[in-house]
Amino acid sequence: MGEIDLAGDLVEVREGLARILVPKTHTVRGPGKVVGSPFYNRAMAFPRHISVLVMEALSSKVRRVLDGLASCGVLGIRCALEAHGSFEITLNDRKRDAHDLVKKNLEINGVQGARVLCEDLNVLLCREHFDYVDVDPFGSPVRFVDNALRSLSPRGLLALTATDTAALAGNYPRTCLRRYGAVSVRSPFSHEVGLRILVGSIVRSAGRYDLAARPLLAFWREHYYKVFLEITSGARRSDEAVSHLGYAEYQPRGIRTISSDGEIGPLWTGPLCELALLESFKPQDYMPAVVNRYIEIWQEEAMARPLLYTTDEVASVLHIPAPPLHRVLETLREAGFEASRTTFHPKGFKTSADWEELYRLLGPS
Ligand SMILES: C[S@@+](CC[C@H](N)C(=O)[O-])C[C@H]1O[C@@H](n2cnc3c(N)ncnc32)[C@H](O)[C@@H]1O
Repeated sequence: MGEIDLAGDLVEVREGLARILVPKTHTVRGPGKVVGSPFYNRAMAFPRHISVLVMEALSSKVRRVLDGLASCGVLGIRCALEAHGSFEITLNDRKRDAHDLVKKNLEINGVQGARVLCEDLNVLLCREHFDYVDVDPFGSPVRFVDNALRSLSPRGLLALTATDTAALAGNYPRTCLRRYGAVSVRSPFSHEVGLRILVGSIVRSAGRYDLAARPLLAFWREHYYKVFLEITSGARRSDEAVSHLGYAEYQPRGIRTISSDGEIGPLWTGPLCELALLESFKPQDYMPAVVNRYIEIWQEEAMARPLLYTTDEVASVLHIPAPPLHRVLETLREAGFEASRTTFHPKGFKTSADWEELYRLLGPS
């Protein structure tokens, strides 16, 4: 806390079109210890590229934007510089040193008219309404979800980051139950389950206020989940959203099923991204190639059914060498099933074939 020696303790980093002053010693990957204050993590540039693309794609629906846990302000500043909307941007962080650094960063990037606050996010969310709220905490976002839902205007957008992936993906089942009211177990598809539990918990929180939460894009990468949800009001819409909640079952021989009854969940069983949104993204040349690669796979995966398989799992169940992913996809498609790659696993795939058909098609002939 306290004053920052802007001359001595800071370095400038470039991210997107922004120049950002950050502490000389900062986090370069995650998860891990929080290094430096105010916080900056270079490894989180990827979700910020995606946030910029989402903001730009939805800019006609969004005016009042809140970067609720702004730290050094990189997200809010990038949206102002890159997303081309008539936004009224508020950047908030309860730490005074972060507040001071956000002001400095706005100034060096020539961003005018943004509001900088130094408040507890929950207090701010209780007092004001926004069209877009981004909540990027250390760990779980649950403590901000209810107030964010109340703060959003009709058809508002909620963006959440969760870095408690170990809890959501089944490494700490009791923590998951406590935070998200859901059971998670370790499995080859645990990151997909973790993401679906996170989305499911927001759908249930929204349902308590007769609101409907619909994922526009939800993904896992490295050490975090990021979800963008549209929040609409009305009991009927809310019922419809809740109808996509279900459970998963993981049985011997890698058999997995989704139903209204099972040991894993409750979790979101519907689509994790909206194809129309992905198709409207305009990735920029200055963004790394991985952004395009993810968008391409999300488009393939948009309508795919849960839950993913991996070629290694298939090989171990069938006692065969792991088949190359492209051949698995080809075989399934030729047999008339849907098959897609997935960003959850480099050797992963999703298919409309059930496990019996899958093992019959890929097994030794
Ligand atoms: C993970 S960092 C945010 C990183 C930032 N969004 C970025 O893209 O670099 C979390 C920030 O939330 C702030 N914070 C934590 N709890 C808060 C609260 N209740 N109200 C406001 N700020 C809070 C911390 O001071 C910290 O700067």
